Amino acid sequence: MSRLLITNAKALCGTHPAELRRVPGRSMRSLPAIADAWLTAENGRITGFGPMDTFTGIADTSGLRVIDATGRYVLPGWCDPHTHTVHAAPREEEFVDKINGLSYQEIAARGGGILNSAAKLRAMSEDELYTKAEARLHTMMQQGTVAVEIKSGYGLSLESELKMLRVARRLKEALPLQVKTTLLAAHALPAEFKDDRAAYMKLILNELIPQVAAEGLADFVDVFCETNYFTVAEMEQVLEAGAAHGLPGKVHVNQFTSIGGIQAAIKHKALSVDHLEVMTDEDLEALAATPLADSPLPTLLPSCSFFLRIPYGPARELMLRDLPVALATDFNPGTTPSGNMNFVLSLACIQARMLPEEAINAMTLNSAAAMQLEHELGSIAVGKRASLIITKEIPSLAYLPYAFGNDHIDTVLIDGTPVRSGTAVA
Ligand code: NIG
Ligand code: FE
Repeated sequence: MSRLLITNAKALCGTHPAELRRVPGRSMRSLPAIADAWLTAENGRITGFGPMDTFTGIADTSGLRVIDATGRYVLPGWCDPHTHTVHAAPREEEFVDKINGLSYQEIAARGGGILNSAAKLRAMSEDELYTKAEARLHTMMQQGTVAVEIKSGYGLSLESELKMLRVARRLKEALPLQVKTTLLAAHALPAEFKDDRAAYMKLILNELIPQVAAEGLADFVDVFCETNYFTVAEMEQVLEAGAAHGLPGKVHVNQFTSIGGIQAAIKHKALSVDHLEVMTDEDLEALAATPLADSPLPTLLPSCSFFLRIPYGPARELMLRDLPVALATDFNPGTTPSGNMNFVLSLACIQARMLPEEAINAMTLNSAAAMQLEHELGSIAVGKRASLIITKEIPSLAYLPYAFGNDHIDTVLIDGTPVRSGTAVA
């Protein structure tokens, strides 16, 4: 039986009421915290916490791991609800093309982009894909990520989409972090279907979704709803088929153009609407007019904006309308070759003008909710997983995003067990 005691934490942050499912935008500036605190966990779950003057000691210390967190903050681990972590290879040649002035869309039109990644993925064995993704996830855990969503979308055929999702399932079984998986077959039209979109849609709707659901290979469905990719009507078909098989939608919308994807996602009760770099007032108002419980979580991906030099999602406008904003990396070889949530935190504050507390709520409880893990993760509450970040000795919480590009993490615990042990671990 694994047992954990953390003492003397400078503060335990994110001590929201256990029943809180998501933090609405106007409340996001408040990150509840307990100063000078202790926390206990057993068998991976938080069993108690409070200020040090309420700590009465632990009689039975057998098998107890004690961490003295003097001078350090304890936070819920990062939840990353939008990634393409399973992919074959980086695409730094396109990065150089971008520096030379080509846009993401121009590179895709020349045969680069998603189809470039699909060709490489189809040629790669399941084992090799697994090994590469496993290494990426190890790095992400060192950076504080305790839960991750992983999409397919570089297979673009029955066989290769299933291959990607099988790799994700193996990762879920083998690694300590929580993994949720998403079928993103509607990511780009594969070359062999370029003259017959309807046939590719049929493959997704009539074969892939039923098979993935039957084998329990995915938790969600996704569509890249965008000019030159998939239409709103096609996205609606995928969301309907997903819903019929118990798979809610998490969709790519409004990355480059606003074409009605938000309104359709609301209509089909999607779990999240992701990207949102290009938003009209109508898009914002449509989200704001939806009751909180039904409203798809707006999920912003600031490191994609950074890498592509496109606008940052309108975090302040969303929060002003009381919408619960979530943050994710979008880790993928084309638009975000980084799975580092700490960099997302800095960009969210520096570029999207989120307050540190707002951004931390967005990458803990709200991002847990964006993958239906809010009952397990995202805050410090009795019964939740003891998946926590212990910082180095830092002067304040704002120092985390402020001193960008530096590593402020000392220790990362997943289910009460260190996956990274710093000096705080005795
Ligand atoms: O979320 N925009 C669509 N999908 C990915 C990029 C995929 C790629 O370029 O490989 C994204 O940015
Ligand atoms: Fe993405």
